[in-house]
Amino acid sequence: METAITIASLTERDRACIWHPFTQMQHSCAIPLIKGQGAYLYDEKGRAFLDAISSWWVNLHGHAHPYIAKQIEQQAHQLEHAIFAGFTHEPAIALAERLLKLLPGNMSKLFYSDNGSTAVEVALKIAIQFWHNKDSHTNRKRVICFSEGYHGDTFGAMSVAGKSELNRPFWSHFFKVDVILPPYVGKEAQTLQTLRSILEREETACFIFEPLVLGVAGMRMYRPEGLSAILELCHQYGVITIADEVMTGFGRTGPLFASSTLEIKPHMICLSKGITGGFLPLGVTACEEFIFEAFLSEDKTKTFLHGHSYTANPLACRAALANLDLLITSECTQQRQDIALSHQRFCQEYNEHPPFKRCESLGTILVVEYLSKETGSYFHSQRDALYLYFLKNGVLVRPLGNIVYLIPPYCITQEELQFVYSLILNAAVFFS
Ligand SMILES: Cc1ncc(COP(=O)(O)O)c(C=O)c1O
Repeated sequence: METAITIASLTERDRACIWHPFTQMQHSCAIPLIKGQGAYLYDEKGRAFLDAISSWWVNLHGHAHPYIAKQIEQQAHQLEHAIFAGFTHEPAIALAERLLKLLPGNMSKLFYSDNGSTAVEVALKIAIQFWHNKDSHTNRKRVICFSEGYHGDTFGAMSVAGKSELNRPFWSHFFKVDVILPPYVGKEAQTLQTLRSILEREETACFIFEPLVLGVAGMRMYRPEGLSAILELCHQYGVITIADEVMTGFGRTGPLFASSTLEIKPHMICLSKGITGGFLPLGVTACEEFIFEAFLSEDKTKTFLHGHSYTANPLACRAALANLDLLITSECTQQRQDIALSHQRFCQEYNEHPPFKRCESLGTILVVEYLSKETGSYFHSQRDALYLYFLKNGVLVRPLGNIVYLIPPYCITQEELQFVYSLILNAAVFFS
């Protein structure tokens, strides 16, 4: 038995015992990785894969970055983890102090959790309990969200994403939401009109949104002016506004946070993914002081009774601090600008021209949607062929149907970007 385990390949051992995320396991064959360095992942056969999507949008400065690795190692020898109720520690405090200074708006408190979905759950629960704490008979219980949004895979996060093919089996379990169209160019007035009619019912607790770009929906982009108008109207009706910056945070759209481009700032911000530079799971929900104050009481039922075992894990907080050290250097700012410029040039050449129906960029994010006779969807018939084509050419992307996007680590070079662009152009054959 011992020998059998030893000689079996990692792929076989994986198939025998692991169920992978977002994967139809019937035909799955996961590639065993043994190393990551810079923008590359390496498998056991020595093949290199350029990680053009930052391993599900988490990696910022390249894999196994020595500076972040060292900081985590030192922290591990000092304090690896401790309960965060009744106790605190320096990495959590230092991270909160630094983030609050960097975040747009008037954020004054941070609540820690451990991934993007939980950062969203925390925000929704805080917003809903905020109204309950003020008046236990409140009518303000509903959430407004964008159609086509995505906020994670837990039930609350799925509920506020709106119904889609990704979450159909669970529709009957979702809580009720009011859905508005994102303020796509030309649709802004229509969105505002729908929003106003919802707000007039005075049943809304909060509005949650992905600022400037809807990621899972296919990197669909819209303008800050449209969102600011929505936020302004929400604020007029006293509604709490929540920016889900789980994907857009930490420089992806250009500035450190997408919300900083908004004239009207949200009351709460959710962060995760890039927060630790892609090293460790961590979630953050930031809020303004007036929200925090609604939970201060001699009445213990007004407490926010929520927490996760790994809340504010010191290793994750230390990784996040190291990530910030790297993120605010002029070198990193330059890297992001270079990527953005390169994407812009590509888009200028190909916007609204075959082989693309859509070719857009925002900061370090580039998206192309191939013209296709088949209706575009997550389950587009060419999706797997597209994925394998890039992989065979040494590039990791995860197409959303007939949509390919790049959201690379900031250390990617111009040569590497040009190579990926050439693959994007060549891949048009799958749709001809
Ligand atoms: C905008 C947004 N919010 C929340 C999440 C959920 O994050 P996680 O996968 O860490 O739960 C995601 C994940 O893709 C996301 O893009």
